[in-house]
Amino acid sequence: MDEKAERKNEWTPSSWQNKKALQQPVYRDDEGYRRVIGRLTSYPPLISPGEIDRLKRKIGEAGEGEGFILQGGDCVERFIDCNERTITNKFKIILQMSVILTYAARKPVIRIGRIAGQYSKPRSNETEVIKGVEIPVYRGDGINGYDPEKAKREPDSLRLLESFYHSAVTINYIRALIAGGFADLHRPFTWNLYEIEQTEKWPEYRDILEQILDAIRFMETFGGVNTDTLGSIEFYTSHEGLHLGYEEAMTRRDERLGRYLNCGAHMLWIGERTRHPDGAHVEYFRGVDNPIAIKIGPSIDKDEMTGLIGILNPKNEKGRITIITRLGRDRAGDVLPGLIAAVRKSRQSVTWSCDPMHGNTDITETGVKTRNFDNILGELKESYVIHRDRKSILSGVHFELTGDDVTECIGGAVDLTANDLSRNYQSYCDPRLNYAQSMEMAFLIAKLIKT
Ligand code: PEP
Ligand code: CO
Repeated sequence: MDEKAERKNEWTPSSWQNKKALQQPVYRDDEGYRRVIGRLTSYPPLISPGEIDRLKRKIGEAGEGEGFILQGGDCVERFIDCNERTITNKFKIILQMSVILTYAARKPVIRIGRIAGQYSKPRSNETEVIKGVEIPVYRGDGINGYDPEKAKREPDSLRLLESFYHSAVTINYIRALIAGGFADLHRPFTWNLYEIEQTEKWPEYRDILEQILDAIRFMETFGGVNTDTLGSIEFYTSHEGLHLGYEEAMTRRDERLGRYLNCGAHMLWIGERTRHPDGAHVEYFRGVDNPIAIKIGPSIDKDEMTGLIGILNPKNEKGRITIITRLGRDRAGDVLPGLIAAVRKSRQSVTWSCDPMHGNTDITETGVKTRNFDNILGELKESYVIHRDRKSILSGVHFELTGDDVTECIGGAVDLTANDLSRNYQSYCDPRLNYAQSMEMAFLIAKLIKT
């Protein structure tokens, strides 16, 4: 490359600013925004380089069949949910699901929360009409307010500081839970399965659970517990890297290795709406050394996808790229085989995961966003089989879920219907699986993996 081209290609934490950045809020008070970014840049990192490298190594191993990734959490975290009960429940549901998957897959399960930083959302429309008035859309607590009033929807840069503080206390609490032994899976767990126990599916799930508990008891008795699967708990954070000013402020130089890392989360993903190869998001992420995931929807062009992987992982490093397909139950069958073939042909190292949520969103007759449990499971099963039949490996799953008893998705053994949705619909954005639906999903994935 000649010198000029090299300079043009040079990456810095702010080089994204020379590219087109989609989905960015516009702040009226530019000076206030700059002050906020300055403060964020000065704070200590939330995550250390060693943790990030460890996750990347594990994701690489999972890509080769030596592990399984369970990634899940809210569509968007709300500041009001940053409390002991809600965080404990979220952490617990992911742990419980991971226990089930560990025994089904007979592999270490890598737990990654959509947590401690999932505060900004890409939106399909700039505005929405509420009670006849057109107002800007809600973009996440990190950007603007949810209340449907024009003034509350104005982007406020102080919310970026709030995002950072909420992320910090969330991760602090999770680290405290782990350090204090909450996550020690040798101890008996409280499985709140009462709701599922009342359904006709229970005998099937009880069998799976019994096998798991037997296996745990067996390992306990013989003392041969593999610490990677049971003894020590690792938990990683992730969010969509959407607000590039914020992400730039989370960027730290690792002097030891002469590289840059985003120390605001272990893993970040690039969303379906912002993954343009010559856009600002891809520019930013090509220069930070974290493991990066890319969401891939059904409209993707195969060459665009492999091009994107090439830009983000020029050295073809294992664990660097996770492809999270979110194709929709109806489209997975036509699209996924071509994607697998393209990656194989280009000899790119990727770890495959499936998000069966974002391609399966429906609107009820009364205008409520929901997802049907059967469609979610359907896409997952189909994706699993497509990979298996091609000797490719589906190494992970990505869910929007919560440990609380919300009513946002319909179906499952607990058989929520459209009429139940108004009972406890909490999400400010997409519908999540609730506690019972998430546990059931884990049982069903266990069954899928075992057959
Ligand atoms: C999300 O994960 O919440 C999201 C917006 O996903 P996608 O980019 O796949 O639409
Ligand atoms: Co979502």
